[in-house]
Amino acid sequence: MRVELASELVLKKRAELQRSSREIGVSEEYISMLVDTFYDRIQHHEVLGPIFASKIKDWPPHLAKMKLFWEGVALRSAGYQGKLMEVHAGVEQARAWMVPQWLDLFEKTLRDTAPNEVVVEHFMLLARNMGARLASTMPSAAPE
Ligand code: HEM
Repeated sequence: MRVELASELVLKKRAELQRSSREIGVSEEYISMLVDTFYDRIQHHEVLGPIFASKIKDWPPHLAKMKLFWEGVALRSAGYQGKLMEVHAGVEQARAWMVPQWLDLFEKTLRDTAPNEVVVEHFMLLARNMGARLASTMPSAAPE
């Protein structure tokens, strides 16, 4: 297949996926509220809170980055250019057993804020996938 044709198909597919995400109720406004609520809660989480507190000194740029990240995965926009796996490799205190706790809090936040169940599932599918990838790179032992 010609390269131009292949990239045209990718763009078309991306536009279709973006349209269907918007149809179920995903929007930049919702993502912004989700991210603000989730990271507000994470700061009060017994296990995850101290880890974020030790790594993030300035929250507004982190929140802005997380909004771009979720727009990227949930709306197929191309704003986030970070390196998910490499960044977490630098979070030395993170352990694989913490990922289900992260996912639990994320799901609770979605249930409290999402416009409908389909949106909850849309985000959870994406989060579980990335959570599994991240967990497989994290040490499994409990921290000392
Ligand atoms: C045990 C679970 C997790 C912990 C403890 C954790 C912790 C952190 C911390 C401390 C940072 C900031 C790192 C820094 O700026 O130095 C970070 C960044 C980030 N996390 Fe996580 N995280 C977890 C799971 C996840 C999951 C499941 C996702 C995605 C669904 C995710 C997505 C991100 C993204 C996109 C960033 C920004 C990366 C960048 O700077 O480009 N995290 N995480």
